[in-house]
Amino acid sequence: MYPPPRCFELQSNSRFLFVIFWHSGCFIFLSKFFAVRIDILTLFPAMLDGFFSESVLGRAREAKLLEINVRNTRDWATDKHKTIDGRPFGGGAGMVMKCEPIFAAIEELQAPSCRRIYLTPDGARFTTTKAEQLSHEKRIIFLSGHYEDIDQRIRDSLIDEEISIGDYILTNGTLAAAVVVDALARFIPGVLGGEKSLTSESFTRNLLDFPQYTRPAAFRGMSVPKVLLQGNHGEINKWRLARQQEKTAKVRPDLLQKEPWTQL
Ligand SMILES: C[S@@+](CC[C@H](N)C(=O)[O-])C[C@H]1O[C@@H](n2cnc3c(N)ncnc32)[C@H](O)[C@@H]1O
Repeated sequence: MYPPPRCFELQSNSRFLFVIFWHSGCFIFLSKFFAVRIDILTLFPAMLDGFFSESVLGRAREAKLLEINVRNTRDWATDKHKTIDGRPFGGGAGMVMKCEPIFAAIEELQAPSCRRIYLTPDGARFTTTKAEQLSHEKRIIFLSGHYEDIDQRIRDSLIDEEISIGDYILTNGTLAAAVVVDALARFIPGVLGGEKSLTSESFTRNLLDFPQYTRPAAFRGMSVPKVLLQGNHGEINKWRLARQQEKTAKVRPDLLQKEPWTQL
């Protein structure tokens, strides 16, 4: 009989767990990768048909880098009409999503350390920094609303965070949830082929991206800037940075007021 293995956890973060065992006279090293698990609660699951199966997200799911489950909130309604909404107390136009089905859905799906997010136009504005932060979570539930709103008691007692994808009103939160999932997925290691592409994207350094060109070098009298054809990478980097600053100053001067950028 061998003595029971002694186990030391070397390092753990939200994504990886590294463990080293001393067993039968030798060290055994194990690592485990945790996929991000995302549940989206929506009244319109068919809106997301295809969205999460295509392209980068489709491949990431196949590679088990993230798990996405799209759930119909109505499945938690218990009456025979599957009622999900009611008239607002105090009167007014429109309907309000009811407490009972949403409480039941979230209480069933949530787990310890799960982040529960409501998509709403009066939430905090979504940014690339928030996308990166969310990519470190192990489990997230996104709740998309419909009609006028959801009952405030859901927001007060079940929701950890409220996110808006911009200053405009959508008919429901399903696309907003999809936008947030798409943006956060890009920060999960392995989801994008070359992680380097993350570092030169718009917003990453509070600058917008530089212009891109591909073959042919001349098209309908429009030529590619010479510097890009000459293979001098120092000059190319300088040219690109200048275009980024120029574009940012013109389109998003507010970004230049934020933390100063540094050259990569
Ligand atoms: C018609 S909107 C409700 C708008 C709400 N009465 C208001 O004025 O703030 C219905 C649902 O769409 C979603 N939604 C609409 N616009 C959104 C946005 N910009 N960002 C995130 N979610 C949004 C929310 O889930 C919201 O509950």
